[in-house]
Amino acid sequence: MTQTLTIPTSLEWHEDHLLILNQQKLPNVVEYLKLRNLNEYYEAIVSLKVRGAPAIGITAAYGLAQAASLYETENLNEFITLFKRDKKYLADSRPTAVNLFWALNRLDQVLEHVQTVNEAKTDLIHTAIQIHTEDEEVCRMIGEFALTVLDDKRKVMTICNAGSIATSKYGTALSPFHLGREKGIGFQVFACETRPVLQGARLTAWELQQSGVDVTLITDSMAAHTIKEKGVEAVIVGADRIAANGDTANKIGTSMLAILCSHYSIPFYVAAPSSTFDLDSKTGEDIPIEERAREEITTIAGSIIAPENVPVYNPAFDVTSNELIAGIITEKGVLYPDFEESIGRAIGVI
Ligand code: MRU
Repeated sequence: MTQTLTIPTSLEWHEDHLLILNQQKLPNVVEYLKLRNLNEYYEAIVSLKVRGAPAIGITAAYGLAQAASLYETENLNEFITLFKRDKKYLADSRPTAVNLFWALNRLDQVLEHVQTVNEAKTDLIHTAIQIHTEDEEVCRMIGEFALTVLDDKRKVMTICNAGSIATSKYGTALSPFHLGREKGIGFQVFACETRPVLQGARLTAWELQQSGVDVTLITDSMAAHTIKEKGVEAVIVGADRIAANGDTANKIGTSMLAILCSHYSIPFYVAAPSSTFDLDSKTGEDIPIEERAREEITTIAGSIIAPENVPVYNPAFDVTSNELIAGIITEKGVLYPDFEESIGRAIGVI
């Protein structure tokens, strides 16, 4: 039996709910959940049912717009007070991916131009839909630029899941592989499993298999050996927040890969939309790093694998220094060092 190859997606807006692919259950169970109220949106983000910087932003935008659509007041000032309360609630869900705050602030800006509560409700939903649909084209552009940058390199390593299911479609770091398959360009992708919660094993391996991309799974500790023995030619990763100087926060383990790339003299690329840049963070030092529950480390799939009371340190992200990054692939083109200058030109105002 031949499998139908499709690029999976994780978010679908319906008039009264957001349908999400439950990324906690993959790959064993393909389950979709309906989010209908603020608490459900918040919980889905905190528990990683929805994860990945752009997908978090899109989900939060729908969550806030949907919550606002249900406020019963006709008074615009009261409406805005409720909106600010709910915006803060969603903003507290996860600290590192700046796309969350970018999306919520974009909704906030809508309220600067509305005259009535009805107008606000309509425009907020439209803006959430716009954030969602724009992201697909942004990711496709990232993929096109990434294909150019990767040139004839075919053996590429990645970590975590910066894929279609972490975005609207295509992904960031995985976009060139999906587009490549459509164009008949065959990559061999090495996916790090990405402990502690295994987004590489559970999500990237699944997503790339669904779309027919050649993927080989390794544990994170096999990265150096695999680069050397399998002749990996480049590493490409996503990002949760990129500071003004190019320092990049991404899933824990990313900076380790960048250091390996430097050792083995292969390029390390970051792929991210402009909504992932945070010019208020001057360097990586300014980026808040989320720490998550100890159980993510002391258990695997519900089974205890460590002594009950062992102290645990569980940072979900690390920061890769700008000097280790060969290029940052955005929808606007590829940014090269000096990043302060190239980021300022492309993303900010110089
Ligand atoms: O904790 P997660 O799964 O939300 O972390 C996701 C990542 O680190 C991704 O690489 C990043 O958000 C980019 S997704 C296009």
